[in-house]
Amino acid sequence: MNFEQLKSLDQQSHTPNYGRYDLGLSHGKSSTVYDVEEKQYIDFTSGIGVNSLGFADDGWAEAVYHQAKTLQHTSNLYYNEATATLTSTLTKLTGMDKVFMCNSGAEANECAIKLCRKYSFDKYGSDRYEIITLINSFHGRTMSTLTATGQDAMHPDCFAPFVGGFKYAVSGDFEDFKAKVTDKTCAVIMEMIQGEGGVLPQDKEFVKQVCEFAKQKDILVVVDEVQTGIGRTGKLLAYEHYDITPDVITLAKGLGGGLPIGACLCTEELQNVLSAGSHGSTFGGNPVACAGASYVLSKVANQEFLDEVAKKGEYIFSRLNKMKNVKSTRGLGMMIGIEVEGMTGAEVAKKCIENGLIVLTAKALVRLLPPLNITYDEIDKGLAIFENVIKGE
Ligand SMILES: Cc1ncc(COP(=O)(O)O)c(C=O)c1O
Repeated sequence: MNFEQLKSLDQQSHTPNYGRYDLGLSHGKSSTVYDVEEKQYIDFTSGIGVNSLGFADDGWAEAVYHQAKTLQHTSNLYYNEATATLTSTLTKLTGMDKVFMCNSGAEANECAIKLCRKYSFDKYGSDRYEIITLINSFHGRTMSTLTATGQDAMHPDCFAPFVGGFKYAVSGDFEDFKAKVTDKTCAVIMEMIQGEGGVLPQDKEFVKQVCEFAKQKDILVVVDEVQTGIGRTGKLLAYEHYDITPDVITLAKGLGGGLPIGACLCTEELQNVLSAGSHGSTFGGNPVACAGASYVLSKVANQEFLDEVAKKGEYIFSRLNKMKNVKSTRGLGMMIGIEVEGMTGAEVAKKCIENGLIVLTAKALVRLLPPLNITYDEIDKGLAIFENVIKGE
């Protein structure tokens, strides 16, 4: 099937809710991917932070294949080893006590919202349900995570009415945060680096102040690590850069390495909140997705690997910061935002595709989320294309 045939087939039947590039991908290896006409591209996107180990990693594919051939799904009515192994590894690696498994970042955040509200309800009664999120945040596209998302543009009238009980505080402004807290507040949800909001790292002092204040008032701190987690910033979880202890952590994207997965982790104090029947998901903890995730963790949750991510990130930042027309860069590890002089992120992304590189955007920025195991050779090839594109060549 050539590209025009593929595009036409897709457009006849697929809902038109994605703004897509004129590019049809066919197969890939590591951080190199090919379109349906065999043109090669360097991948600086990892499928928006999902393919932690790049395309078609042999060990990951083997783990997934083995599980698919053995026991692909059981329902949550029964126990299975692949799921139990993953939840156990996640608790060991994070120091959290329990994990709810689901299928996406939005679902992980939905779980966090329900968990926080139920914790508060069980302890304080019915009138303590408000959740504070930050302006510019992104937490998902379901009705409650969309409401939690602190961006007016994500709350158009066509989807009204939105879910009640959310308030939005200004990032970095502790006074504003305190002003939003009332005796109805049960939780705060934050990303340590706002990805979709424009690769905006939180101020360390602000995060610490919020967490200390929340602790005093028994307001639960939820850290949304859906985009920042699983090694992306050079630590297993981005909150480790911030010297805080969250009550709840949400994960998705890079955890699965390419299969749908989400996880909501909580501390010992919250271990019994999600009592039997209070929450669930048919596919949550799917053995195949969990086998893939366990493989991802076996590679990523390792100091040498994480140091290498940090080093590659520093290398990319240092190369970018020397490029003519790079106005500014921000981010951490291999979560990188770039402001380009005279070009929007969308313009850069389009031109990169023409030249054999795929990149992401976030607001007006170019955003890079390369696979965590990208090689220096692939980084150099990708950066050479990027430099030419922003030079206007
Ligand atoms: C920080 C954050 N939270 C939640 C989500 C939603 O994840 P999903 O698209 O898997 O539902 C995203 C997706 O980009 C995200 O970046």
